Amino acid sequence: MDRPLAGKTIVLGITGSIAAYKGAEVARRLMKAGAEVHATLTRAGCEFITPLTLRTLTRNPVTVDMFEAPEEWEVKHVSLAQRASAVVVAPASANAIAKLALGLADEFIYAVALASQAPLVVAPAMNTNMFLHPATRENLDRLRGRGAVIVEPAEGELASGAVGQGRLADPETIVEAVVRAASKGDLQGLRVLVTAGPTREPLDPVRFISNRSSGRMGYALAEAAARRGAQVTLVSGPTELPAPQGCEMVRVTTAEEMREAVEQRFGECDVMIAAAAVADYRPARAESAKMKRGEGPLTVELQPTADIVAECARGKRKGQIVVGFAAETEDLLSRAREKMKKKGLDAIVANDVSAEDTGFEVEENAGVLLLADGGEVRLDKMPKPDFADRVWEVVKGLCGQGGRTDAQG
Ligand code: C5P
Repeated sequence: MDRPLAGKTIVLGITGSIAAYKGAEVARRLMKAGAEVHATLTRAGCEFITPLTLRTLTRNPVTVDMFEAPEEWEVKHVSLAQRASAVVVAPASANAIAKLALGLADEFIYAVALASQAPLVVAPAMNTNMFLHPATRENLDRLRGRGAVIVEPAEGELASGAVGQGRLADPETIVEAVVRAASKGDLQGLRVLVTAGPTREPLDPVRFISNRSSGRMGYALAEAAARRGAQVTLVSGPTELPAPQGCEMVRVTTAEEMREAVEQRFGECDVMIAAAAVADYRPARAESAKMKRGEGPLTVELQPTADIVAECARGKRKGQIVVGFAAETEDLLSRAREKMKKKGLDAIVANDVSAEDTGFEVEENAGVLLLADGGEVRLDKMPKPDFADRVWEVVKGLCGQGGRTDAQG
């Protein structure tokens, strides 16, 4: 389950940068993510790393000379280009970027990039001045304009000893970008309903009870699904975030409004992901005028709200998938599993919100995706958009299996 590139062919071009040795690590991690990797070196790339290294790592022939006779008759750059789910150039030298931008085809990787309709992922690595040179900037802009994914180089110490931008991005970051690029369009035809953000439960016209949810996780899930071709409706409580691209947006304020909005739309979806931090209680009555300060303590009676995701799971039709979130500060996994069972969910993201740097209000998340069949997928700390893609990778698999059909067991 943790092999997001399983069944996918990735063509990896390693070009003439001192970071070429890190290309071997990219190849290894692509393999670990489940990809079948076909590596190719440019002639300059061969000055830094040998084909043998890559052949051993990828267990596939490594093309260096475009014109060498293939083992079986085929026009190799065309056949690989057609099979590829992504064409990756990492590291990409300034020369490689210029060739890709111009559409030259004097080495195998450039010919594959031209012949392929798969997404192109380019990870530059070079001296800072070369990276910042207007020629390179223009070439990168040109590639971006054509839809290529540029994995920005990091700042740091360069091979020359100088410090600046130009260092190849982490292999892990490159692989994340490849996973995202290679999964473009894989949720086509799926109708998705996402809830996000907090709800606000009014005490009076100016005061409410709410929580720290920023909505980022739910928005990232909606945006990722839309980018991957799904038809997405996002029902969101009050947040500061702009509507994610390509989603139908329904803004609500209270838990009851969210329940109504979801109820109207649930029947039309194939998958629901409830990432909203819905208030579990609301004031029994909301005063129509602003409450005045009194002398003694004030007691507010709270009433439970409807459990939206549990209601959906209870009423779901065969094949519909319902996924929840469990934000916990202790006993994370056992509580999340308990919730999944009680609410009748197909899966739940157990989210530790006690850590300062993951969970509520921040850009990153970490957790474990628990499945009703007992499976567990660890999601280590990563940016919320990557986290969202990983969740979809797993949930996509559940859709194929039709999910669980009973509400409780
Ligand atoms: O029980 P708890 O509030 O921790 O459950 C969390 C999960 O249930 C989340 O997926 C959340 O979106 C959903 N939920 C809901 N309606 C509620 C409370 C929680 O849909 N009233």
